Amino acid sequence: MADLHLPAPSLAPLLFCIISPLLLLFIFAYFKTTSTNKNLPKSYPIFGSIFTITKNKHRRVQWISELVTSTPNLTFTLHRPFGYQQIFTANAANVQHMLKSHFHNYHKGDVFRSTLRDFMGDSIFNADGDIWKFQRQVSSHQFNTKSLRRFVENVVDFELSNRLIPILEIAAEKKIVLDFQDILQRFAFDNICKIAFGYDPEYLLPSLPETKFADAFDNSLKLISCRFNSDIPFIWKIKRLLNIGYERQLKIVVDEVRNFAKAIIREKKQEIEKKSPTSIDQTDDVLSRFLLSGQADEDFVTDVVISFILAGRDTTSAALTWFFWLIFNNPQAEIEILKEIVTKQNSEESVYDEVKNMVYTHASICEAMRLYPPVPVSTKSALNDDVLPDGTVVKRGTRISYHPYAMGRVEKVWGADWAEFRPGRWLETAETAAEWRFVGKDPFTYPVFQAGPRVCLGKEMALLQMKRVVAGVLRRFRVVPVEESLSPVYVSDFTSKMKDGFRVKIEERNVT
Ligand code: HEM
Repeated sequence: MADLHLPAPSLAPLLFCIISPLLLLFIFAYFKTTSTNKNLPKSYPIFGSIFTITKNKHRRVQWISELVTSTPNLTFTLHRPFGYQQIFTANAANVQHMLKSHFHNYHKGDVFRSTLRDFMGDSIFNADGDIWKFQRQVSSHQFNTKSLRRFVENVVDFELSNRLIPILEIAAEKKIVLDFQDILQRFAFDNICKIAFGYDPEYLLPSLPETKFADAFDNSLKLISCRFNSDIPFIWKIKRLLNIGYERQLKIVVDEVRNFAKAIIREKKQEIEKKSPTSIDQTDDVLSRFLLSGQADEDFVTDVVISFILAGRDTTSAALTWFFWLIFNNPQAEIEILKEIVTKQNSEESVYDEVKNMVYTHASICEAMRLYPPVPVSTKSALNDDVLPDGTVVKRGTRISYHPYAMGRVEKVWGADWAEFRPGRWLETAETAAEWRFVGKDPFTYPVFQAGPRVCLGKEMALLQMKRVVAGVLRRFRVVPVEESLSPVYVSDFTSKMKDGFRVKIEERNVT
């Protein structure tokens, strides 16, 4: 009987058609580099620089900093997969262009906003145009001199004298090891909740209570960063749709944070309703201001609450954590700060003026943030095609990041000793007396607080708070790292941290 089976069609031609273009792509890709600068990562069609990006994932900030400072104009383009490009710059002229002279061409942009929307909604950090303007205008009243004075003399001093100092006394007496980063975060969290919402979460108590809300906040930041840092852009959208992986976890922690914020808002609304209209003091807190401005939408006010916690909690605590580590390693700077503390203590000034005029301490904090900025990178998106002052071509929609961490490491700006902690680089001797005078850098060379129309609203408040904490702590205690010889690792999810915390012993000073 004839075999009715037809011979199977050969798969060879089919395979050839599929494999050969891929092979050609790889051969082409292998020999292709996008730049003549050998320090910059190779970029391949479709894949971009994914291999090098993945290899450096655990030290992204440091890696980008090394790359950007290795280029002659302090700017380079990172090629991410599928043709996405991101420009990084540490060039002050470019930063001034983005943040001030061409401010209207560089906004947060749709990609940034949609990526963060689940967590931050339309909060000031995630808004452009009128929504941003409205929030900036309402919030700015909280940062006038009267409010700042009240903040330092009441809020910060209460937390310092009644919470932080007693905890340090116990730790010194009983030789308890503290995670100082955690302590400073608790301090900052209580502070920001009081100033922004008139609410005291009491996180800095001797029992070091559970910080459920703050932990959910931390996790939300960490998980939402995964969206930005993912090897394949937009894969998070698929994960979110399917409710899998980190997206599933993110939803849980974000719900926790938002529900907590809503509880604060409802409480505040009731408080306002109970008060007679004449007894409402609009200077109370940021939340009251928003509620009294006629903003009734609970989701929007929740966004405001979240943005203030983000602004106030991790920034000052990160700066202070690194500051105390640097001061331990630079005893001469510690001696100068102590001298200043004693002089100010004996002056007739008010607490506010005393803190404001702590010049050497101010310089030391600026120097700490030069090396370890609380916000190491900030990203914008170009609305239209443009050319930066250094000649870099920017296509519409391109994401462009300025990099304060790298900018603090530019030899041409800070000198050959840029890696050294040297507060003196911010100081000169005043002519009239043996006093220091602070010499600031222009905000585009040192954009640790950003610059231009969107400069950090809390800059003065943050500096006053940090100087008061430094004076209060160093006056009485030495903060000694447990692992004295180890160099801590700088990590960042939007705001920076010391990896694994900062374990310290507290030693009481013998001061009279
Ligand atoms: C060491 C402490 C701080 C540092 C280094 C810092 C840094 C920054 C940076 C880099 C930005 C721009 C973020 C961006 O849009 O990319 C910013 C914005 C902002 N910061 Fe701060 N910040 C600090 C403390 C604070 C504090 C304590 C508050 C409030 C109590 C605050 C309130 C704000 C607000 C409201 C904005 C948004 C400004 C706008 O977009 O118009 N910051 N800050």
